[in-house]
Amino acid sequence: MIRIKHLWKRYGKVDVLKGLNLEAHAGEILVILGRSGVGKSVLLRHIIGIEAPDIGSIEVNGVQITNLRKHQIYSAVQNMGMLFQGSALFDSMNIEENTAFYLQQHGDLKTGKKFPPAVIKQKVQEALQVVGLEGTEKKMPADLSGGMRKRAGLARLIVYRPSILLYDEPTTGLDPITAQQINELIVNTQKDLKGTSIVVTHDIHSALFIGDRLALHEDGQIKHIAEPETFLKIDDPIIHYLRALYKRKGST
Ligand SMILES: Nc1ncnc2c1ncn2[C@@H]1O[C@H](COP(=O)(O)OP(=O)(O)O)[C@@H](O)[C@H]1O
Ligand SMILES: [Mg+2]
Repeated sequence: MIRIKHLWKRYGKVDVLKGLNLEAHAGEILVILGRSGVGKSVLLRHIIGIEAPDIGSIEVNGVQITNLRKHQIYSAVQNMGMLFQGSALFDSMNIEENTAFYLQQHGDLKTGKKFPPAVIKQKVQEALQVVGLEGTEKKMPADLSGGMRKRAGLARLIVYRPSILLYDEPTTGLDPITAQQINELIVNTQKDLKGTSIVVTHDIHSALFIGDRLALHEDGQIKHIAEPETFLKIDDPIIHYLRALYKRKGST
């Protein structure tokens, strides 16, 4: 459960988040839609604790992460993982090392113990298999296509089994088939980990395929939030546009 209250964030003279409120329930996939530049990535960076708000609070599973010191934030967000907008793989590490990275860092989230190298190797192989990247262990990120890098980023995330998963535009820039594979991976991961997922996207097809609830981020706030069917009926220019886009593409 994530509870965000009255979040304000200003960069220079621009208020990006303006008293944003949002709740993500345990066990759901919550999709956040919105135009580029509204602050969706900024919002995710606040949830995972790498940015602090000017005003407001974020509560994750009952813990206020906004008032914590650095090392306390670290332990509070250990059970969270994020797929960053450009996948953010480490260029100097091969795919196996990349996938192992957080697993090595966090260890077993339940016991806090480190995993032995053989267990790490095994888990990494399994995660790469789940995302369809078996056999790429020794490849470098630069050797992979954009879609494969997204899947590698996803493997690195799911391998340590976080209970809160944040995805920043996981299907942007991918061809429709690869995008759909990523959508299915997000849904399957959610079923498997039974956590809470927040997915930022501007892909309405992806949103409707994966989302239990859809939210519209606009002008620094979450303007609307509802289950998909209800969401699409909301009288709002952006939602009209999304609905038209969905119908147009859906009928061809
Ligand atoms: N670290 C930063 N410093 C200054 N401005 C920033 C910073 N991060 C984001 N912004 C600004 O905040 C706004 C929202 O950015 P972002 O969250 O990346 O949008 P999006 O909804 O496309 O993900 C943009 O105008 C961006 O320039
Ligand atoms: Mg963004």
